[in-house]
Amino acid sequence: MGKRIWLAAGCLFWVACGDWKMDSAALTARSAAPATGMGCTACHAYPPLDSNHLYHLNRGIEDKRINGAITCLDCHNQSLAWREEVLNDTFYHDPDPASRFPGNYSTVDFPVTGAGNPPPLLIRGWHLDSVIVRRQRHPLPQPGRATAPGGLIEYMTGLAHLNDSVDVVFDPNVTDTARFQGAHAEFNPREETCSAVACHQDAVPYRFVSKAKGLPGSKE
Ligand code: HEC
Ligand code: HEC
Repeated sequence: MGKRIWLAAGCLFWVACGDWKMDSAALTARSAAPATGMGCTACHAYPPLDSNHLYHLNRGIEDKRINGAITCLDCHNQSLAWREEVLNDTFYHDPDPASRFPGNYSTVDFPVTGAGNPPPLLIRGWHLDSVIVRRQRHPLPQPGRATAPGGLIEYMTGLAHLNDSVDVVFDPNVTDTARFQGAHAEFNPREETCSAVACHQDAVPYRFVSKAKGLPGSKE
């Protein structure tokens, strides 16, 4: 039996180990409210604290062609539950022939965030060019859980979670199939390298070194 399963089993029986907010009163209570989800920090840091995880999760870059902001789902696609979000991306054409920045402008790139933001309102007055439907995958937040440091929510887990192996399976949106001629994004655990990943636009090589493979607190 692998070390990780012992770890998890240890957590199940050792009450002080984690944040298991389940008492008998909650199980028998009559309520229409969804039950509070489980705490993620009982067995491993959430989010993991090694520099590779923090670097990716804190980039704060929204990529509409992938899944918006980076979450665990982008790299651990089978370990979280998710739903598909459909996003309409509407393009308007700048009518000014003398414009310094001619071309089409996307409403997803320029959202209307409230009164007094002129460029988003301005482009919506131009000629409609086209509408593209984008499909993103978003993990499902657990009910009743606080937001973890860095803005991450404690998400619902999926079938590959807790199967005694660290599953790195990229979300299909993470592959740019045109750029990589049909190849799919993959992680090589021996080399600790990623290939055909759409997000890495620059040619700089990057190693996702697993610092611990021992889970709790896994800090660099
Ligand atoms: C950019 C891709 C990426 C993202 C985003 C990501 N991970 Fe990982 N994760 C990895 C890779 C790669 C490994 C290393 C696997 C290995 O070395 O075998 C890993 C390993 C892990 C491990 C095992 C730790 C260890 O010491 O080996 C845990 C637990 C984990 N991830 C949880 C998460 C959680 C929770 C999130 C979201 C809060 C997340 N990951 C987001 C890529 C990612
Ligand atoms: C009972 C202990 C335990 C709890 C609680 C726990 N995890 Fe994990 N988690 C693990 C173990 C062990 C692994 C290592 C790989 C495996 O066994 O699947 C892991 C790995 C992961 C990974 C990396 C991908 C994978 O499946 O290998 C992600 C993502 C993850 N956990 C998310 C979460 C989230 C989100 C929560 C809170 C809802 C959570 N975990 C709560 C034990 C736990």
